[in-house]
Amino acid sequence: MKITFYGHACFGIEINGTNIIVDPFITGNPLAKDIDINSIKADYILVTHAHQDHVLDVEVLAEKTGATIVSNYEIVMYYGAKELKGHPVNHGGTFKTEHFSAKYVNAIHTSSFADGSYGGQPGGFVITAGDKSLYIAGDTAVTMDMKLIPMTTKLTASIFPIGDNFTMGITDAIIASDLVECNSVIGCHFNTFPPIEIDVDNAKQQFSNAGKELNIIEIGASITI
Ligand code: NI
Ligand code: MN
Repeated sequence: MKITFYGHACFGIEINGTNIIVDPFITGNPLAKDIDINSIKADYILVTHAHQDHVLDVEVLAEKTGATIVSNYEIVMYYGAKELKGHPVNHGGTFKTEHFSAKYVNAIHTSSFADGSYGGQPGGFVITAGDKSLYIAGDTAVTMDMKLIPMTTKLTASIFPIGDNFTMGITDAIIASDLVECNSVIGCHFNTFPPIEIDVDNAKQQFSNAGKELNIIEIGASITI
C-alpha cells in the first residue's frame, strides 16, 4: 500500500495499480501549490465528510478521471445529482472491491457542504488490502468508538488529524493511537490554516515520549506500508 500526501487531509493510496484519493483539497491549499491536480490518477474518491477542506476538488477529479465517489449516502446523492458516479455506504458498512475493502466508521465531527446542503454524518475509513490495514480517522475528536476497530482489524498504520481546534490535537491523538492499538501514526490536518498550526518537532517528540511514531510525509512525497 503506497500512501502519497497531497496536503491537509488529502492522500493518494495505491494498491496493486488501483488508485484511491481521499478527501481531495488541493487547488485551495497554498501549501499544495506544487501538486498538479491533472497528474492525479483516481479510480475511487473516498470522502470522509462534506466540509470544503475535504471536498473542494471532488467534482473536478471525478469528472476528469471518471472515478467512483465512495462516501455516506447523503454525500453520494449530492454528487449523483451532478451526474457523478458514486457508491453510498453508511457507518459500519464496508465497500468491497477486488483489490481492497473500505469500512466506513464513526467520527465525532460535523458534515455540511459549503452551500449549506446536509452532508450526512461524518466518518472515517478502514482500508484493508491483503495483510495491510490503514485507518483514516477523518476529522474527529478522540472517541471510545475507536476501540471497536482493533476488535476486528490489526492496523498497520493510522492517519490522524493532529492540528487541534477543529479536530483532536496531539495529546488526544496519542490516546487515539492507544485505543486503535496502532503505534504508527501519519499526521494530517495541521498547518494549512492559522488555527491549526502546530510545532511539528514537538509533536513528534510527544509521540516518541509515548513510545509511538508520528510520520509527517512531505507534501507530494510517498511512503509504503
Ligand atoms: Ni471537517
Ligand atoms: Mn477539515
